[in-house]
Amino acid sequence: MRIYKTKNYDEMSRKAANIISAQMILKPESVLGLATGSSPIGTYKQLIEWYKKGDLDFSQIRSINLDEYKGLDASNDQSYAYFMRHNLFDHVNIQPANTYIPNGMEKDVEKECARYNKIIHKLGGIDLQLLGIGSNGHIGFNEPSDSFAKETHCVDLTNATIQANARFFDSIDEVPKQAYTTGIKNIMNAKHILLIANGEKKADALYRSLFGPITPACPASILQLHDDVSIVADEAALSEIIKINVNEDWL
Ligand code: GLP
Repeated sequence: MRIYKTKNYDEMSRKAANIISAQMILKPESVLGLATGSSPIGTYKQLIEWYKKGDLDFSQIRSINLDEYKGLDASNDQSYAYFMRHNLFDHVNIQPANTYIPNGMEKDVEKECARYNKIIHKLGGIDLQLLGIGSNGHIGFNEPSDSFAKETHCVDLTNATIQANARFFDSIDEVPKQAYTTGIKNIMNAKHILLIANGEKKADALYRSLFGPITPACPASILQLHDDVSIVADEAALSEIIKINVNEDWL
């Protein structure tokens, strides 16, 4: 695991975009596992800028998103499908047919999970998985629990997550209570994992994920078992880790 410390959100975004760019240049037909939330917005902006300059080409890229709210359709401006179009897909030359997101409107949970897992398997796995982290240590929508969920499943969101995500909705009552998410096994199968985090709110989760016990109570802690993980985080998100005097070579 390699931890890259950045001064702030902008530097975090540029560094993360650099890592994704390298992947895209080395393998133009990469399968990118993509994330939503406020953490990756700057990374996507930077990728768009480099695409516009002619430095990046998305024409052969395939993307598979981590998660989607259950009950929101792709045209709802709070859906992750909308987020991805608005923050990345509409601005680059990715082929819409090569972008995959769980269908939040599918009521048949088993059917949707099977469909999505099939897509992941058919794509041959994920080359680079971009992740944010919830302040309770969730990745995708894999919430703290007493076991690790393997593949795509439907989750009941925790109150902490509903409250954290309420800022994007008109009222907390509008935040969906369930979501489809890829599982820990899907994430861990990615060849490379790039986790980004910024701000003090993430400091405790990041510390527990990287230096605490490996437990489903902190889903991101499983990343300690992955062979190829890059963490790009700003000083505020790393503040708890810096306190334990971690060997400077790590940062
Ligand atoms: C959301 C998403 C996650 C995201 C996390 C953090 O609930 N499902 O994929 O990483 O919360 O979000 P943010 O980046 O806005 O802090």
